[in-house]
Amino acid sequence: MKNHIIIYFAAVLFVFTSSLIAQENKENRFVDSLLNRMTLEEKIGQLVELVTPNSVTEKMLSNGNVSSILGIKDADIANELQHIAVEESRLGIPLLFTNDVIHGYNTTFPIPLAEASSWNPGLIEEACRIAAIEAASNGTHLTFAPMVDIARDPRWGRIAEGSGEDVYLGSVIAEARIKGFQGNDLKSKSSIGACAKHFVAYGAAEGGKDYNTVDISERTLREIYLPPFKASVDVGVVSIMSAFNDLNGIPASANYFTLTEILRNEWNFDGLVISDYNSIPELVKHRFARNKAEAAAKALTAGVDMDMAGDDMKWSVYAPHLDSLIKNKIISEKILNESVRRVLRVKHRLGLFENPYVDKDFYKSNMPSFSERKNTALRLARESIVLLKNENNLLPLKKHLQKITVIGELADNPHHPLGPWNTAPILENVVTPLDGIKNYASKKTEVEFIKGCNVEGNDRAEFDRAITAAKSSDVVIMVIGETREMSGEAASRTNIDIPGVQLDLVKEIIKTGTPVVVVLMNGRPLTIPWLDENVPAVLETWFLGDQTGNALAQVLFGDYNPSGKLPVTFPRNVGQIPIYYSHKSTGRPFNGNDKYTAKYLDVDITPLYPFGYGLSYTDFEYSEITTSKRNYNSDEIIEVSVTVRNTGLIDGEEVIQLYITDKFASITRPVKELKDFTKVLIKPGETKKIKFVITPDKLSFYNIDMDKLVEPGEFTISIGGNSRDVISKSIIIND
Ligand code: BGC
Repeated sequence: MKNHIIIYFAAVLFVFTSSLIAQENKENRFVDSLLNRMTLEEKIGQLVELVTPNSVTEKMLSNGNVSSILGIKDADIANELQHIAVEESRLGIPLLFTNDVIHGYNTTFPIPLAEASSWNPGLIEEACRIAAIEAASNGTHLTFAPMVDIARDPRWGRIAEGSGEDVYLGSVIAEARIKGFQGNDLKSKSSIGACAKHFVAYGAAEGGKDYNTVDISERTLREIYLPPFKASVDVGVVSIMSAFNDLNGIPASANYFTLTEILRNEWNFDGLVISDYNSIPELVKHRFARNKAEAAAKALTAGVDMDMAGDDMKWSVYAPHLDSLIKNKIISEKILNESVRRVLRVKHRLGLFENPYVDKDFYKSNMPSFSERKNTALRLARESIVLLKNENNLLPLKKHLQKITVIGELADNPHHPLGPWNTAPILENVVTPLDGIKNYASKKTEVEFIKGCNVEGNDRAEFDRAITAAKSSDVVIMVIGETREMSGEAASRTNIDIPGVQLDLVKEIIKTGTPVVVVLMNGRPLTIPWLDENVPAVLETWFLGDQTGNALAQVLFGDYNPSGKLPVTFPRNVGQIPIYYSHKSTGRPFNGNDKYTAKYLDVDITPLYPFGYGLSYTDFEYSEITTSKRNYNSDEIIEVSVTVRNTGLIDGEEVIQLYITDKFASITRPVKELKDFTKVLIKPGETKKIKFVITPDKLSFYNIDMDKLVEPGEFTISIGGNSRDVISKSIIIND
């Protein structure tokens, strides 16, 4: 019987592998036969992505000088341009239309950092599916997402666009997003290609200044910054974007080591690498190339296939220079051919040769209904909210209050909840915090709105009105934080306090004695020690997209019990940065008394809120980590379980986090690292047994020779509802 089963599975595997090989062969034959018929000019054309649709002329398309266009958001325009490429060019190679679909297309979901706070990859995947079909219906074939850069510096504005500080969480979410965009079938009309960006270590910019230099060891590169890209490649991402920054002296968009040795040779990535916007001519400004021709040569040779917005956004650097570089044998045509092959392969994989046009009828009958899309946006928005503080259970609010005063510019403005990098939002669909509070409060409750002050500037003219209104209210809800322009690309800040006079207004309102709930809207961790000390309830809502107000109100009034957890550490002040939970021990770990330990004189060593932190309206109690035994071999799978009890009075979802510490190793290792998590609903009084499986890979690290392995010895397994408050058990890996 056993033999039969083995034979059966071997046969299934054989058929599966054979069909993959057959598919690959077919793709290679198709690509090669096309490549063999291409002129040098046509080949170079396939490496050009233009940005401004207006700069694209009919002649360029019919000559085959353009491969891809960024920024078309209209099916008719897409079809019109595609028609020229397909019908009027010699070989009829279709155009690839790209866009930045970062957190939704028409339906705007929470910004990626917020979505990461949901710790719900399944729901993130669902949102990306919706974004994919909306984008595809408007002509998009490929999105420049997900951004999988690990970010440990909240001064960096682009922290808003990623999944935060953690390698494991970041990798799991990267996979979810790619699966969501690409679906099960890349050729399907409801799928679009994804692009993992920015390769690599862009998030490690010195001083948190956008575009800045990155200088990190190969170990840090491999342990922290590369894994989410590797996860993206393993899940089948079709493209990768090379970054703006220089990395250890070599710009990322001309870095042979990362683009060819690691990405192509080690990981076998056979998809497309596209440069970030204008990053090839910027090699000249890096003073790494003498001129644009040299920049083109260096980028192509390093492994950048496609040139985005090449010549200071006007045209391309590949187009005018590659021809003479090849004719003069400065670069070989073999390298060019390889890049063209990758472009054609991706176009083939996306089904563009079979279906180059937007089939509008398909979307008429296959687009999820508005209410389905809204529902996903609402579920994701409310799961992205993190309850930071809730003294004396001020929240949830009672529904039958007489009067609520809502204060803050951000409470009544539909523009800001969209966050940085929204794609084709529909402003009328945005539910502001004020709208949401009005929707959910009892009809008998008076809801008064007073702006009080703007996010920026010094105007205090409305302070008095706000104070007077607060005095006659049961509760005040203050929506404060950053404008949407204050995070995202080119939006780094050195001071990450609450901007303007917003905090001064909070202080005045607190003095009235009326209970205050602060609702934060922002794209990065802010330094908020005063709020933490003095305000009874604080909610981190980031930028939640269309459903901001409804999601917020559901949490405020207890229709939804908050379950979000921070994907990034909140510092006490800017001087603590970089601060992240998976730091090293040092030779002098802080011990509370001794002067000569790793600490600051002027601020506590701990963060304000640790990674993984977030409260609920109920409480969870963790007990009994069990493993089947204490000693394991290094290739064994370790099954772990823990019991979690909801000790409160209402249903609650808890994100149960598993961390691992390697107690001693030949290389210094972090104090703990997240290696698994699960989000479960637990009823009041209920106890759930949660099981995890630790595979050898989760215990491994790069040794001195950069080989990834498990070293025998003691490991601690820690489990809890955040990275700080955990229970632990140790196990031994045998020699
Ligand atoms: C950004 C990329 C983006 C590209 C195209 C660049 O400035 O760094 O993330 O995909 O523009 O819009």
